[in-house]
Amino acid sequence: MTDSPTAATARPVVLASNRGPLSFSTGPDGGLVARRGAGGLVSGLAPLMVGTDGIWVAAAMSDGDRAAAAAGPAAAEGLHTRLLAIDPDDFRMAYDVVGNATLWFIHHGLYELSRRPRFDHRFTQAWDAYRRVNTAFADVIAEVAPEAAAVLVQDYHLGLLGPMLAQRRPDVRAVHFSHTPFAPPDWFRVLPDAVASELLEGLAGHHACGFHTQRWADDFSACCIEVLGRRPTTFVAPLAPDPEDLAAVATGEPCARALASLDEQVGQRAFIVRVDRIELSKNLVRGFHAFDDLLERHAQWRGRVVFGAFVYPSREGLAEYLAYRQEVEAVIEQVNRRWGTADWTPILAFIGDDHPLSVAALRRFDVLLVNPVRDGLNLVAKEGALVNQRDGLVLLSPEAGAWAELEGAVRRVHPYDISATADALADALATPAAARATEAAELRRRARLRTPRDWLADQLAAANA
Ligand code: G6P
Repeated sequence: MTDSPTAATARPVVLASNRGPLSFSTGPDGGLVARRGAGGLVSGLAPLMVGTDGIWVAAAMSDGDRAAAAAGPAAAEGLHTRLLAIDPDDFRMAYDVVGNATLWFIHHGLYELSRRPRFDHRFTQAWDAYRRVNTAFADVIAEVAPEAAAVLVQDYHLGLLGPMLAQRRPDVRAVHFSHTPFAPPDWFRVLPDAVASELLEGLAGHHACGFHTQRWADDFSACCIEVLGRRPTTFVAPLAPDPEDLAAVATGEPCARALASLDEQVGQRAFIVRVDRIELSKNLVRGFHAFDDLLERHAQWRGRVVFGAFVYPSREGLAEYLAYRQEVEAVIEQVNRRWGTADWTPILAFIGDDHPLSVAALRRFDVLLVNPVRDGLNLVAKEGALVNQRDGLVLLSPEAGAWAELEGAVRRVHPYDISATADALADALATPAAARATEAAELRRRARLRTPRDWLADQLAAANA
């Protein structure tokens, strides 16, 4: 993508997100090496900003990032980034305690409410840190934003920027976009009253608030009506993968090597795939239990199918995520011990962030399992549809935002119903080639209906409205 967003809209673009498009580490010669950051937000948005004048403001998340931040504005891989060196303790409290252990859990319904959350003195300090991090972002954006810029604020880490920017730079238009679901009022009410209203005032203080589906926008509106007594402006703009960016990875040498190695490991067997962060809301453990159930009740598949799990560690500063990773590894081992034979390993687990390998898996799946308990969008479902070369079928949870766009072209999978998931896997594996081809063609068509440019155009339209 070479067009400048500036040209299309007359408003220069500033993008603000917690995780930046590049993560820095120290190379063997002591210099800083830039690598593309992980996660759906970065993979969806980075291609939009490459080669444009847009400025991407993000937090320094590692020591390497902090060194890059100290070196000032960085232009690397066609991106103009500005990293904020936030005090590491403030960052940890804002990111881990407020962002990941509280807001993420509230929006995804992950709490077992009889025990968690506990809002105590430590949380109050963390909330103060969250406010300071948002203030640091507002200060830097106020400094770097060109006149009348559209400031595109991403996600739950930065919920308070709207009013802060309005005060500092009345000429800019800030739009907030949530890549997560939004909690319905019954869940949102779990937050302390003062936090709930400060957060909603912060979000509503943007010119508009965007979501991947109408369902999340409605939940947000319902919370605002209950707490603030008013309905802010919302818009719906599902993100989509960039077909050119994906094709470049898919046709690259590392992907070809990964594909050859997968061919060797999977052979003639059917191939079920999942690609996810190791994340509670992604529902990995139930997915492996469903595979176990498939092997138990649909015995014809024993020895004839491999489940490739392309999963990567995430947010390991939180005990919940470490424990979940152990649970994931334990269930994989249990299934492999139960069913594996000398020449067949039922679950091949690839643990680590290897983008070309994940794309190779998406090219090669016969069935893609996407069964989150709740998910803002789920780009993997769309990426899989775009790059797959075997008329693979996608099993999707209706709790993923992408369901609204893909319903009718994917198979529904109930995220909590392990038996039904096993049966859906069996049905998909047994689908004749002609039916698969028809289904996959429709899925490709749907997945191509939008590109990241449409998403960007929607943000800018919301800023200009
Ligand atoms: C989700 C969030 C993103 C986040 C990504 C990775 O997609 O919506 O904002 O960047 O997860 O999470 P992390 O905590 O590693 O940045």
